[in-house]
Amino acid sequence: MKATEKIEHRYIVCVDDDRALLDGLIQQLESAFSHTHEIEGAESAREALELIGELSQGNNVIEMVISDQVMPGMKGDELLAILHQQYPDMVTVMLTGQGGLDSAIRAINYAGLSKYLVKPWNDDDLRITIRDLLEKYRLEHENIRLFEELKVAYQQLKEAQDQLIHSEKLAVVGTLTAGIAHEIRNQLTILGYAEVIKMAVPDNQQVAQYVKNILDTRNRILSIVEEIRQFARNQEQEYEKSVLPLTEVINTALNIMQYDTDAKKRSIVKEFQASPVVLLNRDKIIQVIINLIRNAVQATEAHGTITVTVSENQNHACIEVSDDGCGIAPEHAEKIWTPFFTTKGEQGTGLGLEICKRIIEGHNGQIFYQSEVGKGTKFIIELPIEQTM
Ligand SMILES: Nc1ncnc2c1ncn2[C@@H]1O[C@H](COP(=O)(O)OP(=O)(O)O)[C@@H](O)[C@H]1O
Ligand SMILES: [Mg+2]
Repeated sequence: MKATEKIEHRYIVCVDDDRALLDGLIQQLESAFSHTHEIEGAESAREALELIGELSQGNNVIEMVISDQVMPGMKGDELLAILHQQYPDMVTVMLTGQGGLDSAIRAINYAGLSKYLVKPWNDDDLRITIRDLLEKYRLEHENIRLFEELKVAYQQLKEAQDQLIHSEKLAVVGTLTAGIAHEIRNQLTILGYAEVIKMAVPDNQQVAQYVKNILDTRNRILSIVEEIRQFARNQEQEYEKSVLPLTEVINTALNIMQYDTDAKKRSIVKEFQASPVVLLNRDKIIQVIINLIRNAVQATEAHGTITVTVSENQNHACIEVSDDGCGIAPEHAEKIWTPFFTTKGEQGTGLGLEICKRIIEGHNGQIFYQSEVGKGTKFIIELPIEQTM
């Protein structure tokens, strides 16, 4: 019986080939336990097995079987041994005549017998014995249930704690990286002197090319540093939002990407099918779009195509950034959203998508993707539309 299933009825089944004795026993049990249990009778071991088989089909529990030992056909100890095998929880009680001790001992050894009563029994004894056994059964099951609950609670606690440690670690990483990123950015300004060198040697093609390489590399480092800095900043969630046309925000992101030398080599296609108005933090959404386009650029060959679409349905504004690049391997599906997961080695930080997800969730939106290895990837963002009157 699973803990979650609701128990319909609890049964005590009595077995005795002597009809008069059986009726007496049932009557006595009914007068004492009918408020909690149904009492059923069987006149032979075979009949008892059939009855118990039937009763246990539904959400019933047969908590106890009280069986006579000496019966034609199958004896009581055999019956109880079979039942004990099939239903180890069941409480078994044996009724023996004087001198039935041998069979009782067998039943204790092989049928987990809980009690044996010598006929004729004393009515009070019987009632007290059965009551105590039922109570013991109840307490055991209550214990099992509590133990299960405790296990679940412990598991939940452990998960919550792991989560907490994880966020703690991220917060520390965030603070450290914020400092480092700031320092790197400052130091990078020195590379601006490359422009001065170019001016000093105006006609030298070779120098012009070197300077271009230096500045391109500086820009790439700057964008990595920016990503790290944003990750660090994102650890504190709060930011202001205002109601803006989404396409305008996306246009700004696309304009910024024009200056990205790698992006320039791809064709970036813009498809605005609607102009939804969304409550958003402009800078954060621009950051998301830039992250996605940058990923798309890195996933595609030069001359690849990246398409940015805006559409809307009844409840959501929808932004899609799709590419015809390498695709995402199915085994990376969950991992790409976690911080520091990257397939780009030294070139990647593994922070971009974590930042995107956090920002979109901070806008009560959703971000997910569809991808096919070798064909391309589409990232889809859904944001709630601001209802305009
Ligand atoms: N458009 C895409 N096409 C293929 N793979 C992608 C794409 N976008 C993200 N990924 C995968 O997700 C990983 C995590 O991306 P991200 O969090 O932006 O970190 P990073 O770009 O620094 O690696 C990438 O390393 C890459 O494997
Ligand atoms: Mg990235």
